[in-house]
This record gives sequence, C-alpha cells and structure tokens, in this order.
Amino acid sequence: MTATDPELARASNQELIGRADVNDLAEILAITNTDVEATIRTVADNADAIFTWNYDKGERKPLEKLYEKAKTSQWNGETDLPWDVDVDQEAVIAANAAAGLGLDDGVDLTGTPFEKWDEKEWLALGIESQNWMLSQFLHGEQGALLCTAKIVETVPWIDAKYYAATQVMDEARHVEVFAKYLNEKLSGTYPVNAHLGLLLDDIIADSRWDMTYLGMQIMVEGLALAAFGFMHQMTTEPLLKQLLRYVMSDEARHVAFGVLTLKEYYADLTQAELRERQEFAFEAAVRMRDRFLQQEVWERMGIPAADVLPLIKDLPSRVLFQQMLFTKIVPNCKKLGLLDAGDGWLRQKFGEIGVIQFEDLADTGEEYEMFALATGEAGTS
Ligand SMILES: [Fe+2]
Ligand SMILES: [Fe+2]
Repeated sequence: MTATDPELARASNQELIGRADVNDLAEILAITNTDVEATIRTVADNADAIFTWNYDKGERKPLEKLYEKAKTSQWNGETDLPWDVDVDQEAVIAANAAAGLGLDDGVDLTGTPFEKWDEKEWLALGIESQNWMLSQFLHGEQGALLCTAKIVETVPWIDAKYYAATQVMDEARHVEVFAKYLNEKLSGTYPVNAHLGLLLDDIIADSRWDMTYLGMQIMVEGLALAAFGFMHQMTTEPLLKQLLRYVMSDEARHVAFGVLTLKEYYADLTQAELRERQEFAFEAAVRMRDRFLQQEVWERMGIPAADVLPLIKDLPSRVLFQQMLFTKIVPNCKKLGLLDAGDGWLRQKFGEIGVIQFEDLADTGEEYEMFALATGEAGTS
C-alpha cells in the first residue's frame, strides 16, 4: 500500500486537532472549559457490552501474570499513607523554587507582565500551579476509572476482563487519594482542563474497544507514569512522595496491560486500521501537550495567557519537562509498531512535536516489575 491509496488518505491537522498549525497558540488558548459550574458530565460511550463464554484462564499468559500480580499488590489509601504529615504548601513550593524549578529562573523579565512581581507573587504562582497540576491528575484518574470499567465490558478476552477489574479498583483508590490530598493538604482545586476534557471525551466515546486502551493505557497513563516519576523525584514533601510511589507501582502495571493487549491485537489489523490508531495517538499527544500550558492558572493569576506563554514556552526547563512527559509514550508506541506502520506517519508527527528522540528508551511491557512495591512496603502485601 502507498500513501496515495485513498483508504490511507492522510487526515490533516485541521481534521484531527481542529487547527492547521499544531503550535498555533491563539487556537490552543481558544479552547476553554465552558462548563466549570457543572457537577455532572455525561458522555455517550457508544459501545456494546461483550460476554465471552470462553472461561479458559491463562490463555494469555502475560495478562494472567499481570492479574495475579495485581491481586497481591493492592494497598489501602486510608491506612498505607502517612496522612498525619503536616504539609506546609508554601514551604514545599519555596523549596522547589530554590531547586531551580521556578519560572523566574534566569530569564530577563524587563517589559513583561512579570517585571513587577515580588516573591509573594511567584510563590502564589507556584501554589496555583501545584493545585492545578494535582487537580488535573485527579480528573485524569477518574477518566482512567471510567475507561477501565468500560474495558471490563468491551474487551472479548477473559484474562483481560479479569485484569481490567483489578485496575478499576486501583483507579478508585487513585481518585480517592488525589482527592483527599487536594482537599486536606493543598489550597484549592481546578475544574478539568478543556484539552484534557476533550481527550477523555474522545476516548470514552470511541466504540472500538482497543481505542480505549490506546487512549488511556498507552497515552494518558504513559504520560502519567512519566509525570508522577518526575514529581516523585523532585518533591521534598514526604506524604506526596509516598503517595506517588504507591500510585506509580499500579500505573506501571496499567501501561503494561495496554502494551501487552494491543501488541497481540494490532498484529492482525490492516494498514488502514493502523493508520486510524496512529492518528488517534497523535491527537492524544497534542491534547496532552496543550493542557500543560496550564492556561487556567494564568487566568487565575490575572495575566493573559497569550502574553505569558510566548515568554515561557521556550524556557529550557519547560521544554525539558514537556518532552519528559513523552518518555514512556514514544517507546511504547514503537513497541506496538505504531511509529513505523504504513509510511511511518506517526514517526514524522512525533518528530514535528519534538519527542521522537525517546523511541529507544525502555518500553513498559515488563517494566512494572521494577516499579513493584517491596514486600512489606504496602500494608497488605
Ligand atoms: Fe491511576
Ligand atoms: Fe492507571
């Protein structure tokens, strides 16, 4: 097949992400959450619930192994984390800034909205950024809870239904601990970011069972695993550090679940079907990248995001952070054959957004063993 095959007609950026230029800041910022007061959001999931009468456990050995591992790796968010730690958010943010993670790091701010900012405002920005970041992780965790419940219904393999059922419990626990941390230890919450919301809606609404895995286990959870790892390494706050450590031990299994399942399923897809998966992966990557512009934080700080982002988007620390988010996604897409399927469309697109250099890092098919909690580390193991 060639790229001129009408079945493989290339979807444009306009069709995939609603804008021709992937870096068009005005278009990115024009996407906002217009329903911030709502408590409920309804999304049609468009999928059939599938029974299987084949109960042969272990037909898919890697999934069975993952399921057995999950059963003995459960932890209790209420009793296994040190909730009595007194979190001084200002001190934590100040420590992060001192470690060179502040946005004011070595940049000439003359003539910018930051010119007159003093320490108090930088601190406020750091606090809002953390409230925002953990709020988005919380919403993403709920997305994972819903997606995994959907997978229990839609995947046709019994080993995958068993495993997905354990993931539903994991995700309930993650939602629970992030919500508790935000409510008890931080100083405010944010509604779901519009770019993240669009992505979660797209994943839930897709009728094909494997697309739930690609969107959630490979893209959203791949990003979460990288981001949690970064935060776990950086934070000096012991409760958050342990919370992230525990969540990561689960997330590594979840990403492995995606890799192991899709590796088998993609082997039988046509080039045209793989192209749709490539396009979905690219769309998800762009949505996740856009959300990290944290436009709602600038709004709350009273600065137009359009004035600020051109100043900070090319800061080395920011570029590195953005790229780091893709350190799991790109090798996993490679392992699944998505980078080079057809004419290598996804390889080219990941090149355009500056993340293709991670293709040869470790994939997450087996990495979950490394992330496992040590015996006795969790109260229940
Ligand atoms: Fe999770
Ligand atoms: Fe997860």
